[in-house]
Amino acid sequence: MRILVAGGAGFIGSHTVVELAEAGHETVILDNFSNSSEKVIGRIEAITGKKITFYKADILDKGALEEIFSKEKIDAVIHFAGLKAVAESVQKPWEYYENNIAGTLTLVDVMRKHGVKNIIFSSSATVYGNPAFIPITEECPKGQCTNPYGWTKSMLEQILSDIQKADKEWNVILLRYFNPIGAHKSGTIGENPSGVPNNLMPYITQVAVGKREELGVFGNDYNTPDGTGVRDYIHVVDLAKGHVKALKKIEENAGLKIYNLGTGIGYSVIDIVKNFEEASGVKIPYAIKPRRAGDIDTCYSDASRAKEELGWEAENGIREMCEDSWRWQKNNPNGYED
Ligand code: NAD
Ligand code: UFG
Repeated sequence: MRILVAGGAGFIGSHTVVELAEAGHETVILDNFSNSSEKVIGRIEAITGKKITFYKADILDKGALEEIFSKEKIDAVIHFAGLKAVAESVQKPWEYYENNIAGTLTLVDVMRKHGVKNIIFSSSATVYGNPAFIPITEECPKGQCTNPYGWTKSMLEQILSDIQKADKEWNVILLRYFNPIGAHKSGTIGENPSGVPNNLMPYITQVAVGKREELGVFGNDYNTPDGTGVRDYIHVVDLAKGHVKALKKIEENAGLKIYNLGTGIGYSVIDIVKNFEEASGVKIPYAIKPRRAGDIDTCYSDASRAKEELGWEAENGIREMCEDSWRWQKNNPNGYED
């Protein structure tokens, strides 16, 4: 298939483009590079040995989208393009609703005008809010999000579901990611946060490479075995492969489907620090800090639906996740900057 990968220069998008190419699909990247670097294109080309078509464009720009869809024969869209910083979304709700919701509405409008009615959407475990039960299956009711970013995911799931209900020609697959970490084995593409990392693993790798002094552990009084937050970390390459499997489902005219993409295993913050230290041989100094607003005790998946219906299952364990995150950071201490 020929796939438009919106947000394809980002962390998960770049890894997915590699896996799509390796599975024999053609890809076209669309990205405004607001949270990524154009250098990633050359890195993907080096990994895959294939020339990558890309457009520097915004999903809010209907004219640009019209041109791309007229020129490229697109079969399906994988939609990663969105703003994703939780704390920033609390400060800039309008920007988040505009970019993520208005952007998606624009993209979907141009898609339907061009008869492209296949979409895989990057959703998040955040839509479960404080989950009603653990491990979280797709049947777990959606919850109250604690920030505008989370609401954009929850609302976009509803919007895309309603569009599919009204027009059965649409195939909509909502993928709810748990916590992606790790990087491609080559160590040439990876997560590249701008400024101070919000997420745990990039913060740890920046401490390891000497860019930050110590990790702040946000709370050790949660209702978990060691008191620190428990999450379902998943290797980004496994996550990327989940998209290739979801595309196969689209080819079977899936209709509307929802899948959790996680490993089903929960690790605490301290577990991650210890595993990272073992994998890298680098000590990570840390200090216990107050809880971060909006955080929950525990979040991990039951990913058996993806196994049964997509034939997908995460293959990498925590050791590979830590080793690969470290290789990327060590080889690229400043990410894609020189
Ligand atoms: P990322 O920021 O690395 O990638 C998103 C890409 O989209 C970036 O390259 C950015 O430049 C681009 N983009 C943003 N707005 C755009 C617009 N208006 N037009 C064109 N391009 C635009 O983020 P990521 O970690 O790769 O996440 C990809 C998707 O998965 C996002 O939608 C995110 O919300 C979702 N997600 C991420 C996580 C996570 O922990 N990383 C968890 C759950 C869901
Ligand atoms: N944490 C720290 N110190 C840090 C960063 C994080 O102790 O410097 C802790 C958090 O309190 C939490 C755990 O590490 O217990 C994981 O935090 P992350 O910020 O890495 O991830 P979250 O689970 O909070 O959220 C991430 C994405 C969300 C997404 C969610 C579920 O940021 O966008 O996973 O997919 F919705």
